[in-house]
Amino acid sequence: MILLDGKKVSSEIREEIAAKVAEIRKSGGKIPHLAAVIVGNDGASETYVAHKVKACKQVGFGSTLVRLEADVKEKELLDTIDDINGNDDIDGVIVQLPLPDHISEEKVIERIKVEKDVDGFHPVNVGRLFIDQPSYVSATPNGIIELIKRYNIETSGKHCVVLGRSNIVGKPMAVLMARKGYPGDATVTLCHSRTKDIESLCRSADILIVAMGRAEFVTGKMVKDGAVVIDVGITRVKSKKTKSGWKLLGDVKFDEVAPKCSYITPVPGGVGPMTIVSLLNNTLKASGKEIYS
Ligand code: GUN
Repeated sequence: MILLDGKKVSSEIREEIAAKVAEIRKSGGKIPHLAAVIVGNDGASETYVAHKVKACKQVGFGSTLVRLEADVKEKELLDTIDDINGNDDIDGVIVQLPLPDHISEEKVIERIKVEKDVDGFHPVNVGRLFIDQPSYVSATPNGIIELIKRYNIETSGKHCVVLGRSNIVGKPMAVLMARKGYPGDATVTLCHSRTKDIESLCRSADILIVAMGRAEFVTGKMVKDGAVVIDVGITRVKSKKTKSGWKLLGDVKFDEVAPKCSYITPVPGGVGPMTIVSLLNNTLKASGKEIYS
């Protein structure tokens, strides 16, 4: 069994990005710049955004953090996005989700300029992904694809089972694995809460990608020998064994599943660290006008 070490791979990619930024700086080019908008004070969102801003600084990107109060009017948030859209120094923008209930996430996402949508959430980017046109791909599926590439995992003709049909992970993941070329060319089954006999579908998977948000859902008997297992889940549960009193669990029961796998991601340290480098990569692409010229 080989551990898919997202922590190690992501730090290698960060170094690669930092080297590219150093080159850009040397040649007097435009330094990539990401703007992050956070609404309210949700603890998890604060942590995610702080990590994103820190990652930008580490690789030499510019970054702008815009904080708005939880009771901000939708119009004010949309105006903020318009300002960022019109600011030529800012290459990419993310609005951290979830947003308060009185604000339409759909409207907000659609307001972001497609060329600056480095989260890959805008319907145009999602649509382009579906028809094999260059687009920004959302961070988690993008990070998983990068891990698969870096470990040279064979995907052609494999049966890939994706558990979870979210817009930002399950659905794009299924499309990416079914795409022509590498990584891709897999036969994909997308499972969800209404899927019948999920256990036997999982057992037929050569590559199992789990993004359900249900701690330790996948057990040893659901995985075939030699499978590649990628665990997107991350649930914080109370623990008497850790100093902090908390531990993180994936959607896969690691101790039971790992011995059966050819490759498996740990939680934490697997998919998680790859997501931020995906965002950095998309920002670099935005700055270099690689997707939309
Ligand atoms: N909330 C949870 N994940 C994400 C993400 O990747 N981007 C944004 N903007 N919000 C999120």
